[in-house]
Amino acid sequence: MKPLLPLGDTRRIRVACLIAVGLVASSALAIARDEGDDADLLKEARSHFEPLPKDMATPEFPVSPERVQLGRKLFFDPRISSDGAVSCSRCHLPALNATDALPKSLGVHDQSLPRNAPTVLNAGLAFKQHWDGRFANVEEQAKRSLLGPGFGNPDYATAMARIKAIPGYAPLFLAAFPGEANPISEDNWAKAIGAYERTLIAPSRFDDYLRGKPDALSPAERDGLRTFLDTGCVDCHKGPGLGGLSFRKFGLISDYWKATGSQNIDKGRFDVTNDPADLYKFKVPGLRNVAMTPPYFHDGAVRTLPSAVRIMAQVQLNAELSDSEVKSLVTFLGSLTGTIPESFERAPVLPAGGFTPDPSAPPSSRK
Ligand code: HEC
Ligand code: HEC
Repeated sequence: MKPLLPLGDTRRIRVACLIAVGLVASSALAIARDEGDDADLLKEARSHFEPLPKDMATPEFPVSPERVQLGRKLFFDPRISSDGAVSCSRCHLPALNATDALPKSLGVHDQSLPRNAPTVLNAGLAFKQHWDGRFANVEEQAKRSLLGPGFGNPDYATAMARIKAIPGYAPLFLAAFPGEANPISEDNWAKAIGAYERTLIAPSRFDDYLRGKPDALSPAERDGLRTFLDTGCVDCHKGPGLGGLSFRKFGLISDYWKATGSQNIDKGRFDVTNDPADLYKFKVPGLRNVAMTPPYFHDGAVRTLPSAVRIMAQVQLNAELSDSEVKSLVTFLGSLTGTIPESFERAPVLPAGGFTPDPSAPPSSRK
C-alpha cells in the first residue's frame, strides 16, 4: 500500500499530532473547568438559597381546602370595606404580580397609604410582615387590614356585619371552621385568608436550578448569580425567598433618601420599637418576582430595577457597579420571576349580595 504521506513528512505529522492532542486535551480541560465552575456555583448557591416549598402551611396554620377556598373569595371581595370598593386584590392585583404598581397604594376613598405594596406571592415565607415587620404573620396582617385606611372599617364588628350581610358566606365559614358556634369572626377571616396566602407559591426556573439542573438558568443568568454572590447581595438576600429573614438598615454606607430621592424620610422599624438602634431598618424584602413588581423600595421611590440594583450596591455595599454588572444582576433577578398560581390568576365567583353602606361614615367620605 502506498504510504499516505512521503517519508520526509513524518516529523511534520508528529508535530501536527502533538498539536492536535494538545488542542483536544486543552479543550477537554476547558470543558472540565466550565463544568467545575458550574458545579461550584450550584454548590455555593445551594448554601445560601433553597427551592420554594410546595406551600407555606405550618401546624398552627394549616391550608385545608375549605379554608383556602373561603380565603380566596374573601381576598377578592370588595364588599367588606367601608366604601365597598376595596378588596385585598385592589392593591395586590393578580395582573401585576400581586402589587398595584403605584409608588403608594390607595385605600378607601382614595386615601394614600404610607408605603408601597409588596407582592403577596411567596409572602408567607417571610419571618415578619410589612416593611417594618409590625405583624408576626400573614394572619395577623390580614386581620389588621380590616381596620385602618385600607378597608376603613371602624372596628371588627362592623367588618363582620358586612360579611354576615352576604348570606352565601355562612356555609363557607362553617365548612372551614367546623363545630365552631360563631365561625364568622375576624380571627377566622384572618385564618382563611392566611391559608389562601400560604398556597400562593410562584416557583421559577431558579427552583429547578437549585434542585440540581444547572441548565435551568442561561449562561448569562448564571453569570449574574455569580455577581450576586461575589458582590455581597447574598449577605442580606438569602433563603428560599432571597430575603424576608432579617431587618437591615437601608443606607448602611450613606443616607438612603439621597440615593432614592425619597420625599418623606421613613424611619422604618423604629416606628414599631422606638429603639434608636432600629432607625431606618427595614425588612430585607424577598427578591422573588422582583422584575415584575416596580416601583421599588418601601416608598416606591425608584422606578426601574437597574436603578434599584445600582442604589443597593452604593448604599448597602459601598460598591459602584459597572453597567455590565448591573445588567448581569438584573438578568439573574429575571430568573426569579415565577409562575402565578392558577387560583390567583383567575378571580373567583363570589356569593351574591349587595354592598351595605356604612351608616356611621361621614357623608363627605361617602363620595
Ligand atoms: C389599600 C391597599 C391595600 C389593601 C386593600 C391591602 N393591602 Fe396588603 N399591603 C399594602 C401595602 C401598602 C403594604 C405594605 C405596608 C407596610 O409595609 O407598611 C401591604 C402589605 C401586605 C403584606 C405584607 C407583605 C410583606 O412582604 O411584608 C401582606 C401579606 C398583605 N399586604 C396582604 C394583604 C391582604 C391579605 C389584604 C386583604 C385583607 C391586603 N393586603 C389589603 C396595600 C394594601
Ligand atoms: C446589608 C443588607 C443588604 C444588602 C447587602 C443588599 N440589600 Fe437589597 N435590600 C436590603 C433592604 C433592607 C432593602 C429594603 C430597602 C427599603 O426599601 O426600605 C432592600 C431592597 C432591595 C431591592 C428592592 C426590592 C423591592 O421590592 O422594592 C432590590 C431590587 C435589592 N434590594 C437588590 C439588591 C442587590 C442586587 C444587592 C447587591 C448589589 C443588594 N440588594 C444588597 C438589604 C440589602
